[in-house]
Amino acid sequence: MASDQRIYRASTTAPVNIAVIKYWGKRDPNLNLPTNDSLSITLSQSDLRTHTTASCSSTYRASTPSDSLLLNGKTEPLTTPRSIVCLRSLRALRSKLESENPELPKLSTYPLRIASSNNFPTAAGLASSAAGFAALIRAIADLYELPQDPRTLSVIARQGSGSACRSLFGGYVAWDAGVREDGLDSCARVVASRSPWPEMRALILVASAAQKDVSSTAGMQTTVKTSGLFRQRLEDVPRRMKEMERAILMRDFETFAEITRRESNSFHATCLDTDPPIFYLNETSKMAIRAVEAMNKEAGMAVATYTFDAGPNCVIYYLEMEWNFIAAKLHVALKGKEGWPKGSMSDLSGLRMGNERVEEGLNSGVSRVIMTSVGEGPISVQDHLIDEHGKPV
Ligand code: DP6
Repeated sequence: MASDQRIYRASTTAPVNIAVIKYWGKRDPNLNLPTNDSLSITLSQSDLRTHTTASCSSTYRASTPSDSLLLNGKTEPLTTPRSIVCLRSLRALRSKLESENPELPKLSTYPLRIASSNNFPTAAGLASSAAGFAALIRAIADLYELPQDPRTLSVIARQGSGSACRSLFGGYVAWDAGVREDGLDSCARVVASRSPWPEMRALILVASAAQKDVSSTAGMQTTVKTSGLFRQRLEDVPRRMKEMERAILMRDFETFAEITRRESNSFHATCLDTDPPIFYLNETSKMAIRAVEAMNKEAGMAVATYTFDAGPNCVIYYLEMEWNFIAAKLHVALKGKEGWPKGSMSDLSGLRMGNERVEEGLNSGVSRVIMTSVGEGPISVQDHLIDEHGKPV
């Protein structure tokens, strides 16, 4: 039989997710199993997404015999233990299909060539590893024509990066920590699609696009070993999960807002209680917290809430109908920043926040703003980052 010279390709885009109940701590670092359940909101891919093409061919053996990755135009290793585990699991599923049907091309034996690009800064605390692994897993699963459902794929993605398992779904997504030692029940599930609460919005204040100081992986390991507050947190999370799921299903923004901000503060307090302490928030982050508090106080209700991942960028969740009020309060601080609406809002400065220290802090510390909403899970696309000859485009 003539050897198979074809170039096989599949492409996908995958979203970022920002947790409102944080994953922080591993009960099994090898299998990447978490100490607690978590819950996140998948953000729209129009604003934040990873685009990945997975390709394989027997012809790649001649030039690049091993698997290769081009990330934002730079060659990166696909030999980290996490990538290896993910690729091995996907190949095993493909190989099973091939042994059941000998007519299938033996894609599982070909080197993989992956190209991936983000439309936002990598490792800036904007959950790039989540979108990255979700896109990688989905693209290879499509390339291999695997019949597995997203829940099964989320078990694989989890081993690449914990938060990635949630990026395989759109809307409001929980990651159940699971109890099994093999981790097969530690995967994501949809709490609600984006449609029941379409008014939810996210305003991201980018306070730093630099790579973070302490990686999440290293940081959470030290927290588990050294923080007493962490143990307290583990007791609080199950109740918060229940209340959060209820708040989302009931569209109860007041409860959603309270749990979100308290969760974020509890997570960052735990970081500070780690020895040596981990600081993800900076002065700009604190000004963002003050700004949200001031808005809520003036409104006499929760119009917005905030959360921070392992970095200083502030994610403000709010409901669309409150936008005019929020925009008026933040306009003086953020006007002229990339991503902030231009023009017609100039009349808003009369309704400003009135706290100059906060306004100046945000003005000097925020580099850009991303206004986005709740989005869907990975999307298969025909726009390939590797051409029909196997070359990056
Ligand atoms: C603060 O998923 O990046 O964003 O599993 O070690 O890759 P690894 O960690 P990662 O941690 C994310 C932590 C967080 C909270 C969250 O997204 O739930």
